[in-house]
Amino acid sequence: MAHQPVVSARRLLALAAVTLTTAAVWIVLAPAAPLAQPLAFNHARHRQMACVTCHRGAASTARAGVPQGDVCVKCHTTPPDAEGARALWPDITRGDRIAWVQVTRVPEHVFFSHRRHVALGRLECTSCHGEMQQRTSPVGTAPVDLRMEACLSCHRREGASQDCAACHR
Ligand code: HEC
Ligand code: HEC
Ligand code: HEC
Ligand code: HEC
Ligand code: HEC
Repeated sequence: MAHQPVVSARRLLALAAVTLTTAAVWIVLAPAAPLAQPLAFNHARHRQMACVTCHRGAASTARAGVPQGDVCVKCHTTPPDAEGARALWPDITRGDRIAWVQVTRVPEHVFFSHRRHVALGRLECTSCHGEMQQRTSPVGTAPVDLRMEACLSCHRREGASQDCAACHR
């Protein structure tokens, strides 16, 4: 019985070695995660700017919107240093649309309005999207909890509507 802990410790060490080796091989051989967006945008580099400078609709319409090149070229007359940017910049400067993919979205049957929450509800972006200004690469999954329960628990807390028809069309 007295030797048991020693054996366990050796076993654990062996197991840890195998795990570390597997991790090392995985890191070397696994392909880089594909970029979800046309270029590697970096929120942290733009943290000095107000969110609504780029997401112009967030306070006034249902959709926050993702900015097009006209916003970018005000500062970036030459391509910024990021994956995808150099190849796209001539098109962007010409006024072509950037094909951003909308990652965060509620299903068709749900009604959500940014204006209602930002302008009327006076909620900060962070109360739903977390610390976006710290992200250094585009999100792969929605940076917000989109389950009905997440909406309802805040609505209960804030005394907002829990009427089915308010959120469902
Ligand atoms: C108000 C000025 C301003 C606007 C508008 C702006 N940027 Fe930037 N951007 C900067 C500054 C400052 C930096 C940091 C210095 C640098 O790397 O050039 C930066 C850096 C970047 C980088 C490099 C990030 C990294 O990983 O090093 C990318 C990519 C980028 N911007 C893309 C964009 C895109 C796309 C838009 C439009 C949606 C945009 N920027 C709008 C000022 C701006
Ligand atoms: C009450 C929670 C909540 C708040 C506050 C909020 N958002 Fe959103 N956001 C959402 C939800 C839910 C979606 C998905 C909406 C959809 O499918 O149309 C979304 C989608 C987005 C999108 C992508 C789709 C689009 O609308 O263009 C952007 C960008 C965005 N939000 C930015 C912001 C910014 C910037 C702020 C602050 C000014 C903000 N949000 C405040 C919940 C919120
Ligand atoms: C310089 C312009 C710029 C600023 C400032 C900016 N964003 Fe963004 N944002 C973008 C671009 C471009 C994308 C699309 C690429 C990506 O996901 O990184 C994006 C994506 C997002 C998304 C995800 C959209 C989706 O499809 O799911 C959210 C949420 C968001 N931004 C919130 C914010 C918040 C909150 C702030 C303020 C803290 C902010 N952004 C500041 C340009 C900006
Ligand atoms: C962080 C808190 C919070 C979250 C999360 C949230 N809401 Fe809200 N919502 C509010 C507040 C506060 C109001 C009341 C705003 C006002 O003063 O009009 C509101 C109002 C609404 C209204 C208008 C209701 C009416 O009276 O007609 C709708 C619709 C709505 N929210 C949908 C949603 C949906 C859908 C989600 C989830 C995807 C969601 N909300 C998530 C806080 C939240
Ligand atoms: C505050 C907003 C809000 C209210 C109020 C609300 N829902 Fe939802 N509901 C959502 C959102 C967001 C989704 C999508 C995400 C999910 O499926 O969890 C959803 C999804 C659903 C779904 C679809 C599930 C599926 O698998 O597709 C049903 C059914 C539903 N709600 C019924 C109701 C009923 C019944 C009520 C009233 C008792 C209600 N909801 C009230 C926001 C709301």
